[in-house]
Amino acid sequence: MQEAGRVYNFNPGPAALPLEVLQEVQREMVNYKGCGYSILEMSHRGGLFDGILAKTEATFRELMGIPADYEVLFLQGGASLQFSMLPMNLMVPGKPALYADTGTWASKAIKEAKLLGNVKVVFDGKKQGYRQIGDFSEWEGVTREASYLYICSNNTIYGTQYHFFPELDSVPLVADMSSDILSRWVNVPKFGAIFAGAQKNLGPAGLTVVILRKDLAGRAPATLPTMLKYSTHMADKSCYNTPPVFAIYVMGLVLEWVKSQGGLSAIEQVNNAKAASLYERIDATDFYAGTCEPADRSKMNVTFRIHREELEEKFVKEAAAQGLVGLKGHRSVGGMRASLYNAMPLAGVSALIDFMTAFEEKHR
Ligand SMILES: Cc1ncc(COP(=O)(O)O)c(C=O)c1O
Repeated sequence: MQEAGRVYNFNPGPAALPLEVLQEVQREMVNYKGCGYSILEMSHRGGLFDGILAKTEATFRELMGIPADYEVLFLQGGASLQFSMLPMNLMVPGKPALYADTGTWASKAIKEAKLLGNVKVVFDGKKQGYRQIGDFSEWEGVTREASYLYICSNNTIYGTQYHFFPELDSVPLVADMSSDILSRWVNVPKFGAIFAGAQKNLGPAGLTVVILRKDLAGRAPATLPTMLKYSTHMADKSCYNTPPVFAIYVMGLVLEWVKSQGGLSAIEQVNNAKAASLYERIDATDFYAGTCEPADRSKMNVTFRIHREELEEKFVKEAAAQGLVGLKGHRSVGGMRASLYNAMPLAGVSALIDFMTAFEEKHR
């Protein structure tokens, strides 16, 4: 058990937040910085919230190195709304949208895009049970005459992650980074658009962040409903309608926490160390087995099995009893999954490794 009676939370999202952030929220909750009311009761048109929004955006831009020709939008509807909003805004008539199907969330994005226009699936990971991302040079039907190329940078359910990004000349690369945003350095100018639900590395649920190269917003057809146009939210600085005020505020605190840890490169180093030590433990004996191609393994969602499947339920239960919660794999794939987002400390991973070793000794 850690400070404040808290456990190590390996849930895939909503996920662990830094304790320091939660304590800050608690301190400021009833009377925000002496204004006499709380952030939950604050107008999104007031000066106080303007300051919070501007600071959150500025810190996010600073941490991720987002250039001035990119917009940062704070939206709602979850990452799932982006599965439709993105093709609605970015599809160009006569040019197919290219998609790599690397798992459930990419498949859902493909399903939505197909409702809206011409989609070409250039990689079908289902054939290998979504165990790998594959080699871009072997993707099929890739054309430079495309609206955009869509990837899901980290596959939360299957436990794979892109460690290199494809490039296709002037075709905008679009990425769902819901489960690995802010976990590592990415070169934003390589992308046309990046989006992410906040509820893993950025803050609480209810907020979706979109990073969009500004010129791409001009592609949207005039007939697109106002709320679904990126240009609407750009023009009104994410305040066309009431934004998720509380979630934006908490995201701002999470970003300050990331800065206090040394920024993205320091966070990335810790994330690398956490994932490396857990995979090393999984690979150390044949009691446990990783589920993905080693080259494509995720550093955020580590998926593994026990060679005797009947022990898996016991593993999850006994781990929870020892303060290691949220380790059950997604219901569609089974097994175990340890989500190691930024707020999971190295000590939490060490505690999991110790538990795995003790569990193996008992049951091998
Ligand atoms: C990679 C990825 N994309 C999209 C989603 C869906 O997000 P939301 O529930 O915010 O729509 C998730 C949720 O876990 C996810 O992991």
